[in-house]
Amino acid sequence: MVRIRKAEKGDLPKMIDVFMRAYEGLEEYGEPSRGAARRYIKWLMRRSPEGTFVVEEDGRIIGFVCADPEWEIAESSRGGAIHEIVVDPGYRGRGIGRMLMEHAENYLRSKGVDVVELWVGRDNPARFFYEKLGYQEKGLYGKWRRMIKFLK
Ligand SMILES: CC(C)(COP(=O)(O)OP(=O)(O)OC[C@H]1O[C@@H](n2cnc3c(N)ncnc32)[C@H](O)[C@@H]1OP(=O)(O)O)[C@@H](O)C(=O)NCCC(=O)NCCS
Repeated sequence: MVRIRKAEKGDLPKMIDVFMRAYEGLEEYGEPSRGAARRYIKWLMRRSPEGTFVVEEDGRIIGFVCADPEWEIAESSRGGAIHEIVVDPGYRGRGIGRMLMEHAENYLRSKGVDVVELWVGRDNPARFFYEKLGYQEKGLYGKWRRMIKFLK
């Protein structure tokens, strides 16, 4: 059974495992070590303690997302952000990422957010995933692409 729930402090080691596996082959967009990943994920959980969610299958963490309802963006005074989403490589292509994004967007809607921003690595194929979900590219800044989506 697949379920999404709010991330808790005790999930950190498993979230680091999934994060490090998720960025294998995409190292330039990930974190250089487990220690750096730990600091980064702790930052995510501090930045958005209510908007960081893990997805579990049969009790095993297979991905997570961090949605931030308080993020300044040019297009709206009610901006939000998706800071991170990862799905364990062995569980991809099954709609888990879409499910996490829909959960995150519903959370952001519930907080009054109307435009979501995210940044994806220039050559990261995840941009095609985001395009499928309705995100539009709004510029290339060094090795990052900025994408946004207007929430209905
Ligand atoms: C991006 C990521 C979260 C997608 O997870 P996933 O569970 O495989 O995604 P889903 O199965 O829900 O895919 C949803 C849709 O996007 C499409 N999609 C997913 N990855 C894709 C890719 N690399 N290229 C093209 N389309 C892709 C799927 O085909 C699917 O389309 P459909 O609904 O029409 O069938 C996963 O690949 C990942 O963890 N990548 C590494 C970490 C990363 O780069 N995160 C983003 C940081 S900005």
